[in-house]
Amino acid sequence: MKILVLNASPKGPNSTTLHTALYLAALHPEHSFTVLHVGQQIRQLEKDFAPLRQALSEAELLLFCYPVYTFIAPYQLHRLIELIKADGVELRGKLASQITTSKHFYDVTAHRYVEENCLDLGLHTIRGLSADMEDLLCERGQREARMFFDQLLFSCDHGPFVAPAPRAPQRTRAIYRPTLPETPKVSQKDAVIVTNCAPDDVNLTNMITDFRAALPCGSRVVNLREFPFGGGCLGCFGCAITGQCVYKDGFDSFLRQTIQTADGFVYAFTISDHYTHSSFKCFDDRQFCNGHRTVTHGTPIAYLISGDYQYESNLRMIVEGRCEVGGNYLCGVATDEGDTAADIRTLAQNLAFAMDGHLARPANFYGVGGMKIFRDMIYVMQGLMKADHRFYKEHGIYDFPQKQRERIWQMRLIGTLLSIPSVQKKAKGQMTTAMIAPYQKVVEQARRDT
Ligand SMILES: Cc1cc2nc3c(=O)[nH]c(=O)nc-3n(C[C@H](O)[C@H](O)[C@H](O)COP(=O)(O)O)c2cc1C
Repeated sequence: MKILVLNASPKGPNSTTLHTALYLAALHPEHSFTVLHVGQQIRQLEKDFAPLRQALSEAELLLFCYPVYTFIAPYQLHRLIELIKADGVELRGKLASQITTSKHFYDVTAHRYVEENCLDLGLHTIRGLSADMEDLLCERGQREARMFFDQLLFSCDHGPFVAPAPRAPQRTRAIYRPTLPETPKVSQKDAVIVTNCAPDDVNLTNMITDFRAALPCGSRVVNLREFPFGGGCLGCFGCAITGQCVYKDGFDSFLRQTIQTADGFVYAFTISDHYTHSSFKCFDDRQFCNGHRTVTHGTPIAYLISGDYQYESNLRMIVEGRCEVGGNYLCGVATDEGDTAADIRTLAQNLAFAMDGHLARPANFYGVGGMKIFRDMIYVMQGLMKADHRFYKEHGIYDFPQKQRERIWQMRLIGTLLSIPSVQKKAKGQMTTAMIAPYQKVVEQARRDT
């Protein structure tokens, strides 16, 4: 089979992920593997797509290989998908799959993003391999990679292929015109609206205008398309040591001084390719200069999204997951799918309420699970990720279970007591009563206090 390996890691030949594909190629000389370093060469591809068009046309199976970057794929792969779709090269009926390496932090959303785009292109899409960064270095990881490839070949012949999600009906979106009156700016808070709004994006422009009018505080707009990005994150880890990005485009100070200083963040974009235009992904990835530090913990976030958000379940998970992991209060998402003006007004009020009240809510599975991955990873990498390690120590993020010594002993004692038959008999039916007692005390105290 003619397999085209699309290596979207910005590290090119030095990509960890690529090496899983190279390992499989070494084991399967009966198949032809062509490797293109599309991530590293994204600038050249923007100028001349012809060589890639040729390679895509000749391939039978496209194998997307990339690292998971900030919940999805690297900017370079987002850009590549834009280029493929814009070119219109016929891929219908070909096969596609993917290999990623990561620390499994939101690898699911990355895989789904690539699957959804493969499905858009009419590719028969086969579930990919999501490996840990170090998997290829151990026997289990190698075995799993081999099994993935065997399954991939089998699925090429027999399926199953990834099923598409329900699609938004084909319709022309109604133009949204600004309708909201100017609310007096009585609050001293400052909201920053980060957008990649294109000049001809009428709905998003008008949604931003209305949102700003409805806010009871001042706001600023940062358009990412105007920022002179030197390029996408290179994954070089230079910032892990110095805290400074290797690019000299001033993004890290811009991020810290212009964006992160706000009392509330508003992200405004139009959906395309199941996320938004790649300019936003460039922004996401370049924030790696903050490492894994939740530096904006507590700052509320609101989203203005133009497009069929209700049909984008993966994007909804990304939006929620990012707030959860960052410890940011998600005030809501206003879209142009329903009563846009009312949704925008409510969202503006919610954001103002959250900024004034410093609202917080307990992290859910997306947040708790995500932070546990970071906690374990930074603990192991503390020698390299020095700033992250210091931050995690200072903020009590190293909440390893073994530190809860008192609770562990308490549970041991209860377990030992309950293994005595006479105690067991006596405790029967009283366990829940005993467990709820401290909670009852809280409620009683609250009653006394009011
Ligand atoms: C900018 C950036 C963002 C990343 N985001 C994630 C992430 O969201 N989830 C994850 O598990 N790992 C993440 N990683 C780690 C990479 O996925 C991991 O190091 C990967 O194995 C690198 O593969 P490569 O050598 O092929 O580029 C990120 C790394 C960088 C540099």
